[in-house]
Amino acid sequence: MKIAVSRKEHFNAAHRLFNPDWSDEKNNLVFGKCNNPNFHGHNYELIVTLVGEPDQATGYVYDLKALSDLINEHVIKQFDHKNLNLDTTFFAHLNPTAENIAVVIWKLLRDRIESQYELKIKLYETERNFVEYPAH
Ligand code: NI
Repeated sequence: MKIAVSRKEHFNAAHRLFNPDWSDEKNNLVFGKCNNPNFHGHNYELIVTLVGEPDQATGYVYDLKALSDLINEHVIKQFDHKNLNLDTTFFAHLNPTAENIAVVIWKLLRDRIESQYELKIKLYETERNFVEYPAH
């Protein structure tokens, strides 16, 4: 009996999307406002989901306070109120799209959660735009 449990967290961060191998014109064409050289911010909503069997003794799949602590320690502290391009090491050479941020978050958490749990990341960059990793 597998059940998905989720914890929602939040961070604010700035970024700029661009490909250094492209001209200004091509970057503007592809990334539009997100290529603003002086960066811009988003209010990211992060939903971390674990899939597993409920424990016989507790009825919990995972202690969500413990999951919240893990996310805060290893993700939120590094990203909140930061410039993702300049203040973190992860995006020095990786475009900080919602897709890439979701994969980075998955990698930050995967080794810290026991392997019997499936880990899924859902990241909202705006109320209407969100990504999921892995895709299924
Ligand atoms: Ni943006």
